[in-house]
Amino acid sequence: MQPQLIFGHGSLILGIESSCDETSAAVVRNGTEVLSNVVASQLIHADYGGVVPELASREHLRAIVPVVREAMHRASAAAGHPVTYSDLAAIAVTEGPGLAGALLVGITFAKSLAFGTNLPLIAVNHLEGHIHAVLMNTTELSSRPESASFADEAERPVVQPATLSPLLALVVSGGHTHLYLATRTPHSTWHYRNVGKTLDDAAGEAFDKVAKLLGLPYPGGPWMDALAAHGDPKAVPFAATQIKTKATGNTAPKLAREDLTHADQTRFDLSFSGIKTAVRRYVELHHMQEAIANRTKNLQATGLAKGKPNNPETLQQALAFFDPETLNLIASFQASVTGYLTRTTLAAAAHYGAEGLLISGGVAANSELRRRLTTEAARHGLPIAFPTIALSTDNAAMIAAAAFPKLLARQFADATLEPTPQLRLG
Ligand code: KG4
Ligand code: ZN
Repeated sequence: MQPQLIFGHGSLILGIESSCDETSAAVVRNGTEVLSNVVASQLIHADYGGVVPELASREHLRAIVPVVREAMHRASAAAGHPVTYSDLAAIAVTEGPGLAGALLVGITFAKSLAFGTNLPLIAVNHLEGHIHAVLMNTTELSSRPESASFADEAERPVVQPATLSPLLALVVSGGHTHLYLATRTPHSTWHYRNVGKTLDDAAGEAFDKVAKLLGLPYPGGPWMDALAAHGDPKAVPFAATQIKTKATGNTAPKLAREDLTHADQTRFDLSFSGIKTAVRRYVELHHMQEAIANRTKNLQATGLAKGKPNNPETLQQALAFFDPETLNLIASFQASVTGYLTRTTLAAAAHYGAEGLLISGGVAANSELRRRLTTEAARHGLPIAFPTIALSTDNAAMIAAAAFPKLLARQFADATLEPTPQLRLG
């Protein structure tokens, strides 16, 4: 079958994402216009303080049919006419990286749907999806100023980052902390080269682990962000040895198992385990354990643990369970980690002559990281773009967006597609 590319109403791609603990489906037109983006977050993991893979698969199985149906329904409402499967140009699905069982649910569903509807199937790397969450926004900038993802309107560059190349992309989430040099190919697809990654914990994982250590609910990143505003970021000076760029130069690629074919092997790898241990030591040294145990109990008893920290009322009530010492520790941790990410990203961009910065992944929602990166990028005269907060964390719109150049290049998957939990990019 030669798949039909539909350009009458634009090319509509149904994206499906199930790599971790969010079941998501979205319909995106021409890789940029989000008609629907339904995300079902699995709240069940909060009771366990982290994602339980078996539970994630079970929840994906429960959610996938209603989530896809809702995405199609909302797409119809947004388009102003019924959107049926026959109006789609392709079905895109996350191939990896992620949890094997979780990925399997999305892939099996997408394959069956593609088979049943006679539509082409497109496999998308989750990390490429995160990068496209930003590109999707930036190409919309001129026509939809309200969706502008530049932190400061006045600083918005004349040239949009989506037209620049190469770009330095930081993908920073609960599972990944990667730096990529993203270059446009003559076919308008993208080529990625990994120039840095964490050698131990991901930045979001460090946020979540430190949050858990201090008695905060899961996922801890958004709580840390909200609470940090109430502490002194200079109170706990983490030593430079606890947080530093681990390896650069030509020994690093072997360590990181990355591509060795490039002439310039300089890498910008990171490490977050040192600062996590430093926080644990600080807690022990300052005898904070009892207060932490009480906090965990109180946040659960009051139901605040299930609340959202970006709700001012929830945050205000939760603050009653925090002493200044803990708030200072949280603010200092956040300042240290975001400063480290900022310095490393800017150093990699300068070294490889990047023309702009793309920041994506769950931790890209962090207000301090956005502030620091925006300031530093402006100081270096580099355009920078973030996804909207909704597109920062896992979602299927970014998968459908990343699939669009592959649709144009006719890069289709077949019925043998399987989950690749360790799938790499670049
Ligand atoms: O991209 P994502 O939804 O899933 C992964 O692919 O991992 O990212 C989730 C991660 C979690 O670790 C969460 O704590 C973190 O992003 N996160 C944040 C913030 N919002 C989400 N970390 C720091 N500050 C935030 N505001
Ligand atoms: Zn992700």
